[in-house]
Amino acid sequence: MTDRHASRRDLLRAGLATGGLLVAGAAGAGPQKGNPANQPPNVPDWTRNLGEGVAVRSYGKPSEFEKDIIRRDVEWLTASRESSVSFTPLHALDGPITPNGLCFERHHSGIAEVDPADYRLILHGLVDKPLIFTLDDIKRMPRVNRPYFCECAANSGMEWRGSQLNGCQYTHGMVHCVMYTGVPLKTLLNEAGIKANAKWLLLEGGDSAAMTRSLPLAKALDDVLIAYRMNGEMLYPENGYPVRAVIPGWEANMWVKWLRRIEVGDQPWHHREETSKYTDLLENGKARRFTYVMDAKSVITSPSPQAPLNHKSGFTVLSGLAWSGRGKIGRVDVSLDGGRNWRTARLDGPVWDKALTRFYYEFDWDGRELLLQSRAMDETGYVQPSKAELRKVRGVNSIYHNNGIQTWQLHKNGEVENVEIS
Ligand code: MTE
Ligand code: CO
Repeated sequence: MTDRHASRRDLLRAGLATGGLLVAGAAGAGPQKGNPANQPPNVPDWTRNLGEGVAVRSYGKPSEFEKDIIRRDVEWLTASRESSVSFTPLHALDGPITPNGLCFERHHSGIAEVDPADYRLILHGLVDKPLIFTLDDIKRMPRVNRPYFCECAANSGMEWRGSQLNGCQYTHGMVHCVMYTGVPLKTLLNEAGIKANAKWLLLEGGDSAAMTRSLPLAKALDDVLIAYRMNGEMLYPENGYPVRAVIPGWEANMWVKWLRRIEVGDQPWHHREETSKYTDLLENGKARRFTYVMDAKSVITSPSPQAPLNHKSGFTVLSGLAWSGRGKIGRVDVSLDGGRNWRTARLDGPVWDKALTRFYYEFDWDGRELLLQSRAMDETGYVQPSKAELRKVRGVNSIYHNNGIQTWQLHKNGEVENVEIS
């Protein structure tokens, strides 16, 4: 049985439609008609005419026919645009890497526009030698390239109490995965020399929110990067230009952007973002704290509400993403019948540590209604839980760390809906 939360969701959908959202993404149902004059046996316009020259487009961007593939936000979600979030259009992408211009962005007080000439990173506290690095200083150090997923702890947060938003862009789009170039934080800490009693670091952003989080020293010495490039380009302003912290596998709130200051201490600072926010309120009124790791999760990106099927039946490619903050994805299973039967999906492309992993499942659709689910397993043996299992342990008060299994209902007409199975 499916539980559609109909009235509530219709309301939400109406709200989305007013904001001009979802409409463009969902309008794709039905095959593209096009212009017969450009189709065989005719010779199309673009073959009969000379095209634009080189460098007319000095910075490339996608075809104008892809103009609906953009980051989108949900206007009623937050009080102001400066403290809001835009979502990655996961339904329209493939492979494991997110293009820079489509990475979701989350800011607590807008985008800081930092002049790289004035950029400074302060490193102080329990160190032998406090240091201030310029961007050039950081770029002169030995660097590494690593692909990692970055997922907001609040990703899928609106879905804790039931299915709400009709599209994986909104239910799962607070995640992106890019190739970072940066310096291991360990290198900077070695430069400054850490005192024997050092145990924690404080990371502070240079935006007007001065976002601050405490980070255990052990993680800092393990795999944290001080990154300045994404997919080869300098970080985009939205994502922390010129320097951000990359905390592999851990909640994105700790990935401090426009990184301005690192203080070394012997205990956590208990700032706002690790007390009243980014903690998980349980049924008994207590809150889980310092829940850093993003557990294994997956979502079918196509078919999905914004990526309906245009064919009535027959050969169908199902595709999705899986990731785990504890390491590599070991296996992904797919169900077409709401979790009764599971088949193993095909992982394709690189399976990187703590990065998005692409999976496919090809099947012959008999044209009947299906309940599509995916379930990720990571290399530690951890299995992504159902939403019911998750609620049994965490209750329904949480916002953060919802990694429950998503269900999409595929209708006979190819449309797809966000549902829950009870
Ligand atoms: N860093 C600063 N300085 N200010 C912020 O508002 N938001 C955090 C984190 N780092 C934030 C920040 C949150 S909650 C998230 S989810 C990630 O940045 C988002 O990173 P992105 O914008 O690159 O997607
Ligand atoms: Co966040």
